Amino acid sequence: MGYDLSMRVWRGDVDGGALADFTVPVEEGEVVLDAIHRLQATQAGDLAVRWNCKAGKCGSCSAEINGRPRLMCMTRLSEYDQNETITVTPVRTFPVIKDLVTDVSFNYEKAKEVPAFAPAPPDADGKRRMAQADVERGQEFRKCIECFLCQNVCHVVRDHEENKPAFAGPRFFLRYAELDMHPLDTNDRRQLAQSAAGLSMCNITKCCTEVCPEHIKITDNAIIPMKERVVDRKYDPLVWLGSKIFRR
Ligand code: SF4
Ligand code: F3S
Ligand code: FES
Repeated sequence: MGYDLSMRVWRGDVDGGALADFTVPVEEGEVVLDAIHRLQATQAGDLAVRWNCKAGKCGSCSAEINGRPRLMCMTRLSEYDQNETITVTPVRTFPVIKDLVTDVSFNYEKAKEVPAFAPAPPDADGKRRMAQADVERGQEFRKCIECFLCQNVCHVVRDHEENKPAFAGPRFFLRYAELDMHPLDTNDRRQLAQSAAGLSMCNITKCCTEVCPEHIKITDNAIIPMKERVVDRKYDPLVWLGSKIFRR
């Protein structure tokens, strides 16, 4: 059974904006992105919204729905009471371009700072080998769809623009961890993650893990192990001695 949905949608641009009220006819089984598309098609033709797959896989349709960072295409209207007003606002941590579309280029700049995978030479038969357990660990990290909801929710940058230069954010701690734990990678990324990427600024609030639509255990499986690896390097007497000798 269809019904009339009350929506509040943020309209504006870099110079400012406000919430606008709409009533949108919706059908059973629809998601928030369906309602936004109908609104765009029937009442607000110039409403800016970024989306692509409508299947939770491209990471484009991130927004805040009733204050919670979500993918619009994966948020069913049936999660809400039919009398409830659904408020959709752009993600808060990145600058607005127009309406629900934000400029997420911060994330692409941070991606450039992560050194690329640098594998050791292959075995004598020309093949590279790794254990299945290592393959599986990496696969969890590679489920990331780059929706940047984890980046958006992390309190280190959410209301602290001044922290952005020094903090890569949870999505990239995931990338550092994936590469550092990769048995064939030759780079030691621990110091880089700690100092240049700001791993030490993360105080393990786990908000990033809570919002991840791919259910990646960002904090438990990437951030905490990465922090432990940094500490191991710092306090391992052999590593310490080695770093002293080679510095001379
Ligand atoms: Fe999105 Fe999860 Fe990837 Fe963060 S780690 S960008 S929340 S998919
Ligand atoms: Fe931020 Fe996640 Fe750490 S939300 S503080 S990166 S645990
Ligand atoms: Fe692709 Fe929502 S449209 S994740």
